[in-house]
Amino acid sequence: MTATAADSRTAQRWDPGRYDRNARFVADLGEPVVDLLAPRPGERILDLGCGHGVLTRKLADLGCRVTAVDASAEQVAAARDLGLDARVMDGQALDFEAAFDAVFSNAALHWMSADPDAVIAGVARALRPGGRFVGEMGGAGNVARISAALVDAFDRRGLDGRDAFPWFFPAAEDYARRLGRAGFAVRSMELIPRPTTLPGDIAGWLETFAESWLLRLPEAGRSAFVDEVRTALEPHLRGDDGIWRADYVRLRFAADLPA
Ligand code: BEZ
Repeated sequence: MTATAADSRTAQRWDPGRYDRNARFVADLGEPVVDLLAPRPGERILDLGCGHGVLTRKLADLGCRVTAVDASAEQVAAARDLGLDARVMDGQALDFEAAFDAVFSNAALHWMSADPDAVIAGVARALRPGGRFVGEMGGAGNVARISAALVDAFDRRGLDGRDAFPWFFPAAEDYARRLGRAGFAVRSMELIPRPTTLPGDIAGWLETFAESWLLRLPEAGRSAFVDEVRTALEPHLRGDDGIWRADYVRLRFAADLPA
C-alpha cells in the first residue's frame, strides 16, 4: 500500500512484520469493499496496492484469478509468500491493457498522491470494456486530527508541515469527477466516517503510517517528535478505556467502464 519510491513525500519503508503488528486491521476492515466488488469465481482481478497480500489472498481463495501490485518490494515479497502472483509496480504507471474484469483497491489509493489521474487512467487501460473499478481510500477529512498534529509539530521545528503532507484524501465530488473524466460511470460513491480502533498505541500507527514524516527529521529527534504528536492527540483520540481510535474517514466507490 505504497506510492512510488520516487516521490520523496511518500517515501517510507514497508516492513511486513511491523505492518502486520500495527496494521492488520486494514485488511480486517476491508470486507465491505470486497462485498461491494462482489467477486465471482474465475474473474480476473487486479489488486492495486496489495500491501502484504492478506486481502488479495481472500480474493484468490474465492476462486478469482488475482494479480497484485504494490510499489514496495518488501510487501510484494510478503504477498508472494502467500502464494500470490504479486509484482512490484507503481500504481501511477500501471502496465496492463484490457487484462482484467475488475480492479480492486483497499486503503492504497491515498498513497498515490503525486498523480491520482494517472492512477485512474492506468486502471481504465487495465480493464476490459465493461470492467469495474471498486475501491476504498481515505477521503476528505481522513485522519484530520493526526494530520494537524503532524503539521503543527513540523511547523514548530521551522519545517513546512503542509509541504510534507504525503496523502491524497479527496472529496466524493472530486473523485467522482476524475473517474468521469477517464470514462467511468460512477455507480456508488460514499464518504464514511469510521473511527478506527488501533491494536496498540498511536506511536505504533505513527511509526508505521507516518514514517515519511519521520524520515524528514534527524534520526536523533524522531522519538521526541512522536512523543510530542502523541501528547497532542491523546485528549482527542484516546478513550477513557485507554484505547486509541484513529479518526478515519473512508471514501468507498464503485465505477464501471462502458461495455
Ligand atoms: C488510511 O488508511 O486512511 C491511512 C493510512 C495511512 C496513512 C494515512 C491514512
